[in-house]
Amino acid sequence: MSYIPVTYPAAKSEFYPFLLDQLKLYLGEEKNRTAALANFSSVLAQAFPEANWAGFYLVDGDTLVVGPFQGRPAVSRIDYGKGVCGTAWKTGEAQVVKEVACFVGHIACDCNTHAEIVIPLRHPDGAIWGVLDMDSVTPGYFTDEDRAGLEQAVALLEDLV
Ligand code: SME
Repeated sequence: MSYIPVTYPAAKSEFYPFLLDQLKLYLGEEKNRTAALANFSSVLAQAFPEANWAGFYLVDGDTLVVGPFQGRPAVSRIDYGKGVCGTAWKTGEAQVVKEVACFVGHIACDCNTHAEIVIPLRHPDGAIWGVLDMDSVTPGYFTDEDRAGLEQAVALLEDLV
């Protein structure tokens, strides 16, 4: 399948339904985890020009290990409860960080990053198998509307193998 460039609606109320359609289009029937997460992170990078990192950390024992992503090289392992990602894993709650300098324990990967959002990924039984992580150079970039929209988006991934 070839990628067709699209213009995302500016209004969040229209942006997220559009994003969900794009994700469904490029995920297709793919159930391989690496393939699906790679295309998912690519779609996010196209959809969020102000995001400087978009991708996944995946549970491996008692750490998160970096998975498919778009952006600069990043830390490869994050312990349970550490950083924004490990906090999302431990609490089971999405983290919306307006300014990473104010998040105690934030793990810096790119010194240009100001805002971050992390969404837990769950199996149908509720077990967390990873997190979606997005960063932005714009302070306050991510909002609760993004949290709600991205929680819907990652629900598309719940039956990956
Ligand atoms: N900032 C994250 C680390 C991963 S990078 O943002 C890609 C954290 O504190 O968990």
